[in-house]
Amino acid sequence: MKIYKNFINAEWSASKSGKTFLDVNPADRRDVIGVFQRSNASDVALAVRAAQEALPDWSSMPAPKRAQILFKSAQILEERKEEIARLMTREMGKVPKETRADVQEAIDTAYFFAGEGRRLYGQTIPSELKNKLCFTVRRPVGVCGLITPWNFPLAIPSWKVYPALICGNTAVLKPAEDTPLMSLLFAEILLKAGLPPGVFNVITGLGREAGEPLVKHKDIRLVSFTGSSEVGSFIASTCGKLLKKVSLEMGGKNAQIVMQDADLDLALNAAVWGAFATSGQRCTATSRIILHEKIYDQFLKKFMNAVKKIEVGPIINQKQLKRIHAYVLKGKKEGARLLCGGGVDREGNKKFGSFYKITVFANVKSRMTIAQEEIFGPVACFIKVRDYEEAIRVANDTAYGLSSSIFTRDLVKAVRSIEGIEAGITYVNSSTIGAEAHLPFGGIKKTGNGHREAGVTALDIFSEWKTVNIDYSGRLQRAQMD
Ligand code: UN1
Repeated sequence: MKIYKNFINAEWSASKSGKTFLDVNPADRRDVIGVFQRSNASDVALAVRAAQEALPDWSSMPAPKRAQILFKSAQILEERKEEIARLMTREMGKVPKETRADVQEAIDTAYFFAGEGRRLYGQTIPSELKNKLCFTVRRPVGVCGLITPWNFPLAIPSWKVYPALICGNTAVLKPAEDTPLMSLLFAEILLKAGLPPGVFNVITGLGREAGEPLVKHKDIRLVSFTGSSEVGSFIASTCGKLLKKVSLEMGGKNAQIVMQDADLDLALNAAVWGAFATSGQRCTATSRIILHEKIYDQFLKKFMNAVKKIEVGPIINQKQLKRIHAYVLKGKKEGARLLCGGGVDREGNKKFGSFYKITVFANVKSRMTIAQEEIFGPVACFIKVRDYEEAIRVANDTAYGLSSSIFTRDLVKAVRSIEGIEAGITYVNSSTIGAEAHLPFGGIKKTGNGHREAGVTALDIFSEWKTVNIDYSGRLQRAQMD
């Protein structure tokens, strides 16, 4: 069996803990991907030191030069797209069509931030004083600690790594223990593209043992995390105490509203795709479908017909499988009507994998647990509403605020929903999933803490504004006084 090591200072090294863990294929747990290092605080210290030592040279390299390395890595990703996608399907379980898209998202992100190497714009601002020039520049934050989930094993690391690097930071990445291979592969590609040693490091392992010491390490200036709200809240409070910059991307409870005047076939396709792609394991997944009462029965019938024809891939692990099932039991207990699924799927060759049946609940009330908490599985909840106002109210009746969507042909309702829906992302006549890599991505309320990844807004996470004042008057000028 292949043993994979940490990537520190461009070298492969075993964990000081002497411990390892197994990475298995979620579609067939007998298929072991490899043995990975179970890193601890000593490994974190080594990785952070390497990143710290690499920082002066990397941050002083002209950004367009840094960009060349990013461009090169994008090209390698393109060349190896198919191979990486296949490996990702084996490690994470998503079907090849989706893993190709995951790699493509990383490629798009690489090109986008490589392009930023020739921009990284600051601002020039007029001074209130004579003979004085004022402008802003972006400065790197320092060594970044990046913690990423398993559902987008390459795309999400790329959302953090590329903007971090183009801004002149160095980084240590701790990927989810379910998908460590993809991050090590990413490191290998960046090395091949010419990234100097120490600029990017990867340590594998568990949250408590490797993630926590990374967050707490005194030389980590910025933590960027994508994952659950529970862990995010812990990271936020830790970073709050230590006064570190922290960017969090957490859960969602995304709603798709379908009004009575909508193109129902279009809305149907979007709902099926949004609810069940990646087996519902996306923070953008459509977990609530809010239907106008006039089309409720008709739409639900179409939906049930459509789901009969589809299958979903595996759930990442047994723990998540149990979590999904616990929510389904709760849904039944609280009085929602189970229309299909509701159990572990062991049919055919699914015996050795972690599969859950496509599950649909009707008659869901907004205050039920299944309409409030993030399930992260192939479970769709239907809620009936009387009118547009109620639809918006129900859509907003959640602690989260990531993605949202509305299907209507009424221009006024569509535009009003941009203001009405409390979410970081709103789609009109499209699904809640499938964000483009160069658009700001993130949410409000319990989904995030005010940052936006992807898009040009990611630069604000990974750089600090410096305000520069150049006084060429030859005398001491005082703002507000002269
Ligand atoms: C996530 O689930 O954490 O918008 C990210 C989408 C994808 C990204 C999802 N491009 O569905």
